[in-house]
Amino acid sequence: MSSKPKVFVTRRIPEKGLEQILAATDAEVWPGELPPPYETIVEKVADCEGLVSLLTDRIDARLLDAAPRLKVVSNYAVGFNNIDIAAATARGVRVGNTPGVLTDATADMAFCLLIAAARRLVEGHDYGRSGKWKTWEPLGHLGADLVGRTLGIIGMGRIGYAMARRCRLGWDMQVLYHDVHVHAQAEAELSARKVDLDTLLGQADFVSVHTDLNDSTRGLFNLATFRKMKPTAVFVNTARGPIVVEADLIEALRTGVIFAAGLDVTDPEPPVEGSPLYGVPNLIVAPHIASATVGTRNAMADICARNLLAGLRGEALPAWVNPEATTHR
Ligand code: GLV
Ligand code: GLV
Repeated sequence: MSSKPKVFVTRRIPEKGLEQILAATDAEVWPGELPPPYETIVEKVADCEGLVSLLTDRIDARLLDAAPRLKVVSNYAVGFNNIDIAAATARGVRVGNTPGVLTDATADMAFCLLIAAARRLVEGHDYGRSGKWKTWEPLGHLGADLVGRTLGIIGMGRIGYAMARRCRLGWDMQVLYHDVHVHAQAEAELSARKVDLDTLLGQADFVSVHTDLNDSTRGLFNLATFRKMKPTAVFVNTARGPIVVEADLIEALRTGVIFAAGLDVTDPEPPVEGSPLYGVPNLIVAPHIASATVGTRNAMADICARNLLAGLRGEALPAWVNPEATTHR
């Protein structure tokens, strides 16, 4: 018999968060390595007051309606496109995410993909491993220079700023950005310039995507977009897969419309078996690992737990996506 609130946690998360959750709630933790099926979550949340979800869990109106006691959904991610926020708000369900703590790790991964794609690192590794490395080649493996080039940031939020900062202060790049908002700090400290999308695409040597996935960014990068970029350009996406039309990216890479690309996110995730994404030499695909460092995942788990526990108590969430959802059922 427990008077602790019932909670469903859709996957094991680091102890730093899990311990807090297990101590304060009556939690069931899904033990699988793969996510619980949607219908399983619907069943599990029927009598729960709290839910810890991952970016792979779809949390929609039907699921929320199946959970009449639910007060809070704590998403173990900064992105929350997996959750129908309007539906949660309408039902008085608080939604939390994990901003801030994964900013540096994600910017590091964006830069890692940028330099690895520009310098053809994975191609070179495969070349050696497959026995093709016979001698030092004056004309082989030529990639792109970084210093003094122009970086275009799509979405100048926390992560976009952290990426711009690396490229400006470390590699002396000019920074252009496309965003609805002016980022005063980026303009003051990094001499970043806000420009329209076509200007950015035409001038940038490196284009890095840091926007969220929404109706205006879905499919934003398609063949027409890539054609506006320089043939020497390198494209990087660490945000969400559906921002890019993958078939168009593959065509752009195969036909020299752009030089190379690095992705940490795909659509779908994982790519379908035999996906052409893995057959393009000038494309590097990482398995959505930008936040995958020990320190970052611990910090995400801590915020995730604190969001959950605050929501269960009816308090303000430390990282609250929908503060307008103040009443709960
Ligand atoms: C990862 O993609 C996240 O949104 O945290
Ligand atoms: C996300 O954390 C962003 O603001 O870029």
